Amino acid sequence: MARTNLKKQLSKISDLATLPVVANNVIQITNNPKSSALEVAKAISQDAALTSRILKMANSAMYGFPQKITTINHAIVILGFANIRNLVLAASIYDMFAPNGQPQLFDRVGFWEHSLACGITSKLLAKRLGIKNIEEAFIWGLLHDLGKIVLDTYFHTDFAGVIKLVEEKNILIRDAEMEVLGYDHAEVGGIVAGNWNLPQTLIKVIRFHHAPPQANESMRLAAIVHMADIFCRAIDLGNGGDRKIPCMHPEAWELLDLDKESIKALFTEMEQEVIKSQAFLPI
Ligand SMILES: [Fe+2]
Ligand SMILES: [Fe+2]
Repeated sequence: MARTNLKKQLSKISDLATLPVVANNVIQITNNPKSSALEVAKAISQDAALTSRILKMANSAMYGFPQKITTINHAIVILGFANIRNLVLAASIYDMFAPNGQPQLFDRVGFWEHSLACGITSKLLAKRLGIKNIEEAFIWGLLHDLGKIVLDTYFHTDFAGVIKLVEEKNILIRDAEMEVLGYDHAEVGGIVAGNWNLPQTLIKVIRFHHAPPQANESMRLAAIVHMADIFCRAIDLGNGGDRKIPCMHPEAWELLDLDKESIKALFTEMEQEVIKSQAFLPI
């Protein structure tokens, strides 16, 4: 497929990939600084299944709160607006693209394991680097490869061609996407995230997780996810869609400036936290 078709393909994606109504409402409400916690709680409560999923996630070992969170209002008080929005996003997007139990060319179970591990690693890196709002880093990592699952869902045949090429040539999925489609999952993910009015930082991180310097003011955050992605592949957490480990971007490596000891400690933390997160998404 030539790159000239890119616009046509991507506008089709905008029509096809729509966020569920409740998630969409929650994004709009939380994007408005004047909104109240009550409005957010009311919007989430429209969906009983989502409400119980959010509570389950908020009570998972990943957060480790000693006290049980029993209502959405309580969850908002404890976790805050942004975290609740992120949980709604995580649950809604996971439901849209959950593994369906059928054997598939693109390994969705492995994909979500990779995404979850990357969310956890991004959060651990953010903590290590003294970034504020480390919980935000979780959603950057969780959704960084959104474009892959969007392509697999809405452009299944084209994406099957990508996966076959990865297997034939044992190349990076991103290189196969460029060869078959003329664009990559980062571009697709960035466009979809933009259409969904997700926070600007999240859009930038999704769009530039393979090229952090292009994220400009969000470069440090994109570099965190870039590094998390590579580390998860290096220690085989999940499946990013190929068997190769991408090269670390030299500027991202320099910017984060982690020494050998920190990386070693991080790998241990990653494995421990991934085990704790198992009840987070019903993978
Ligand atoms: Fe990626
Ligand atoms: Fe990835």
